[in-house]
Amino acid sequence: MKKKIMAAVMTAAMVAGLAGSTASVYAAEDTITVGFSQVGAESDWRTANTESMKSTFSEENGYELIFDDAQQKQENQLTAIRNFIQQEVDYIVLAPVTETGWDTVLQEAKDAGIPVIIVDRMVDVSDDSLYTAWVGSNFKLEGQKAMAWLDAYLEAKGRGDEEINLVDIQGTIGASAQIGRTEGFDEAVEAHENWTTLAQQSGEFTQAKGQEVMESILKQSGDDIDVVYCENDNEAFGAIDAIEAAGYEVGGEEGQILVMSFDTTNAGLTETLAGKITLNTECNPLHGPRVEEIIQKLEAGEEVEKQAYVDEVAFASDDTVTSVTIEDQDYEITPITQEIIDGRAY
Ligand code: AHR
Repeated sequence: MKKKIMAAVMTAAMVAGLAGSTASVYAAEDTITVGFSQVGAESDWRTANTESMKSTFSEENGYELIFDDAQQKQENQLTAIRNFIQQEVDYIVLAPVTETGWDTVLQEAKDAGIPVIIVDRMVDVSDDSLYTAWVGSNFKLEGQKAMAWLDAYLEAKGRGDEEINLVDIQGTIGASAQIGRTEGFDEAVEAHENWTTLAQQSGEFTQAKGQEVMESILKQSGDDIDVVYCENDNEAFGAIDAIEAAGYEVGGEEGQILVMSFDTTNAGLTETLAGKITLNTECNPLHGPRVEEIIQKLEAGEEVEKQAYVDEVAFASDDTVTSVTIEDQDYEITPITQEIIDGRAY
């Protein structure tokens, strides 16, 4: 809360004055208190996202960050937000686990006059004045890009007319990242008469659950699976372990199980370079500076965009397909290299 911090700043200024130095008196800025309700620590992506928020909202940058890890439970996020309201933070930042169920608590924040910034996944609320701004990924577009790539890839491999059996290991049900990526998957399967969804089940965005789900699907229909669409990297790691343990090969050639993923974490791209993940579609977690820009604009009394999408790319294990077109827009698909992995921050 700014008032308390200002008292501390004034005390420091008086001490500095007594010591004969006024150098820091007017340099001291108001500290901005940010309460951040994070989904959890379910994935490498989430770890990179937490790190981005913590390094941005640091003391040296003029912030006090109150960080709360909700362990993937919405009720924990509701409690965290209510605690932030009680603590009279300057801003609430929410990375919501699922889209629905936020109206009441966001109304409480609005009544308390605390701006709420939504980051990463979206909220589905009846009144969009309940939050000030949102920044995150276009999850549906991510799914569309991935499936357009699959179509072009199979065509290029001479498998365009083949019967293709797909598995979708979904993210946390009800999370924007799951909703958008599953929609992209479903629409593409529906558009192809020769594509069939063999199984569609949540892996909760974790490696352990991804592996468990894949093991049970392999038991039922291992020999029939052509493609496994994992809705994040950690699920893909678990699925690959399960596929290999069951005696199948992963990869993009006929007779192998083709694994697709999202996030483009360092570990995910390393698996892409190794040919185990054939396509990895970016979901960028480095939201700290983006949220800070919103807060700084609000502090300056400027207008902010209500919703802002992050630009994202995609990486393939080879150069079979180097671009896809969705609704007249071209998107590049970049063949992964070690240099690209080394140059990335997460
Ligand atoms: O909402 C973003 C998704 O959440 C990322 O794809 C996933 O890894 C994370 O847990």
